[in-house]
Amino acid sequence: MAAEAENDVMIRLEGVCKTFPGGVDAVCDLSLDILRGETLVLLGTSGSGKTTTMKMINRLYELTSGQITVDGRDIMDQNPIDLRRKIGYAIQHIGLFPHMTVAENIGVVPNLLGWPQEQIDERVDDLLGRVGLEPESFRDRYPNQLSGGQRQRIGVARSLAADPPIVLMDEPFGALDPITREQLQNEFLELESEIQKTIVFVTHDIFEAVKMGDRIALMDDGRLQQLAKPAELVENPANEFVDSFLGQHRFQLSLLTRTLKAMMPDVPAGEQPTSPPKDRLMAHHSLIEALDAFKKTNREKLPVYKGRRFIGELEKSALTSTIAEVLGQTGGD
Ligand SMILES: Nc1ncnc2c1ncn2[C@@H]1O[C@H](COP(=O)(O)OP(=O)(O)OP(=O)(O)O)[C@@H](O)[C@H]1O
Ligand SMILES: [Mg+2]
Repeated sequence: MAAEAENDVMIRLEGVCKTFPGGVDAVCDLSLDILRGETLVLLGTSGSGKTTTMKMINRLYELTSGQITVDGRDIMDQNPIDLRRKIGYAIQHIGLFPHMTVAENIGVVPNLLGWPQEQIDERVDDLLGRVGLEPESFRDRYPNQLSGGQRQRIGVARSLAADPPIVLMDEPFGALDPITREQLQNEFLELESEIQKTIVFVTHDIFEAVKMGDRIALMDDGRLQQLAKPAELVENPANEFVDSFLGQHRFQLSLLTRTLKAMMPDVPAGEQPTSPPKDRLMAHHSLIEALDAFKKTNREKLPVYKGRRFIGELEKSALTSTIAEVLGQTGGD
């Protein structure tokens, strides 16, 4: 039983500290398990130590003290280059290489790993398709011939190129307009449900955190304040800091953290994937998103899917009564 649980841990941080020259304690005594296949969000205000934490995992920064293991092995016993082969990395600011085409950008790591060109080409086209870009029209363009949202998509594709089991994403959808951002988040959730990777996702946006994360690690001033599932974080803040971080968004966050998954029966075993209809809900949709879909489609009932699997019908009246229940619970705040 215990051995099984150990097996579920992909990345373990134990008492990790990072002090930069000059004495800035960027991260202090951070202990955290990141489970195989989960998306763990590192959330916190600017300067709270999110990027530093992430860069210690792939040894772009060396830790000052403590220990990090990846897949059971101390990262200090591994060659940083070998370690990074297992870890994809997507960041907002250091974008794409400007003098390389989209295909060359995505193929950078497979190329370094010596994949045959044919296999790289195939992988590039497959990934372009997965991030919603037509390979024919995009593979030979240069980054300056893309919109910001398209560049972010390429960044995500590049981090997945060598099919690493772990992907670190540092504000990958930052600096985008809210609509494009939401679109990318949704696409990424769909993609992620197919690829099953361990993802560490950094953001300072609580709304993005509850949407993307299986669990959220909320940091402040280099220290972990709470590690919890989104709904638990919102409903049971561990201390005053967490409470004030949620601030006046509590009610809206409650509607966002409750997903349809909780309202639907478990996926029937052996159910065949089908081609989902256009008007449908997804199990990961929040109560707000579901309400929105009912409004847009003007239907009384909508089918719910998990990936490509149909898992049941949801009635609008069931949804509104659940929302009323949430309102009742948080209305006094
Ligand atoms: N290379 C560095 N040298 C010295 N101090 C650094 C370095 N990198 C980060 N810091 C400091 O460490 C602290 C944490 O920085 P970090 O980049 O991890 O924050 P963050 O949570 O990612 O913030 P943001 O949301 O602004 O990206 C900050 O006080 C920062 O000034
Ligand atoms: Mg940062």
